[in-house]
Amino acid sequence: EQIKKGNYEHFMQKEIHEQPESLTTTMRGRLICGDSSKAKSVLLGGLKDHLKTIRRSRRIVFIGCGTSYNAALAARPFLEELSGVPVTMELASDLLDRQGPIYREDTAVFVSQSGETADTLLALQYALENGALCVGITNTVGSAIARNTHCGVHINAGCEIGVASTKAYTSQIAVMAMMALAIGDDTISSQARREAVIDGLFGLPNKVKEVLKLDDEMKDLAKLLMDEQSLLMFGRGYNYATALEGALKVKEVALMHSEGILAGEMKHGPLALVDETLPIIVIATHDACFSKQQSVIQQLHARKGRLIVMCSKGEGPLVCSNGSCRVIEVPQVADCLQPVVNIVPLQLLSYHLTVLRGYNVDQPRNLAKSVTTQ
Ligand code: G6P
Repeated sequence: EQIKKGNYEHFMQKEIHEQPESLTTTMRGRLICGDSSKAKSVLLGGLKDHLKTIRRSRRIVFIGCGTSYNAALAARPFLEELSGVPVTMELASDLLDRQGPIYREDTAVFVSQSGETADTLLALQYALENGALCVGITNTVGSAIARNTHCGVHINAGCEIGVASTKAYTSQIAVMAMMALAIGDDTISSQARREAVIDGLFGLPNKVKEVLKLDDEMKDLAKLLMDEQSLLMFGRGYNYATALEGALKVKEVALMHSEGILAGEMKHGPLALVDETLPIIVIATHDACFSKQQSVIQQLHARKGRLIVMCSKGEGPLVCSNGSCRVIEVPQVADCLQPVVNIVPLQLLSYHLTVLRGYNVDQPRNLAKSVTTQ
């Protein structure tokens, strides 16, 4: 086992640090450089014969559990933008509980690292019975979800052993961004945007390498937070998912209460919790929601909130003008790819919190890597 961990102490730690390589493998052979006569594009072999049907579908529905659901949520805005088709989200168990509507004209996308999660698999059977086009996005060749969907994409992140999913999350987002690019490929008006995002994908592994340098800083932050009861994370837009996923990581491995909150909902309840003691991480990297997030920071300041702000490199003084909050500066990438970079410091934070609190990193209490029973 130690051989498999290499120089790392835990699989989760290894898998966090592996992300520049796993992302490279995920994208290998799928990004087409283009030249003066041909535009840059994306090739996803498992989807290419189904793109027309997907473009014509009435709705794209993402279905998954846990981290896989969060990855789909991170990819949703970009898919909405490029496909022009409404994109909705379903937690597999909730779809089954409600027996929610799935139509023949729907494309249902099943996201699962293992490809074996019982809830997701049952939701797949349900969607097949209802006649939807079913697409699988998994990390496991030959898994039940890969076998039973009509088409799909393997994320090729490599075997993930730590129960808390890390490298699969970032590879899932990269695949779904590529899926959005492939679906939007027939629209001339979005070509410049698509090419900019493809450039961003090419550069992404290096940006992740850069953000991994925050390891020591995140360890220091973990030392500061290790005895807390609770930790809130506020995000919005592309990074609402980052808040949910960051909080899920802290909950599942560090066994600390943590909640990801949509910043736009702050004034509808969560604001009541804010005081000088409760630590709050606000994700405020630069995108179309930036000024709204700045105003959230101001409101939290006004209530003496204990803030830790994640922002784009060089923008620390902008997001925290009075110098009273702790700042985590991350490299900026194309807005729709920013969740891939932003989750990394939160993965590192949850890892260090777990070690410092003395809990089992790779096999958290009561959890399983793949939940194959309902
Ligand atoms: C379990 C794991 C989570 C994972 C979820 C979905 O709850 O502990 O880490 O996100 O299942 O797993 P899947 O394999 O479908 O992505």
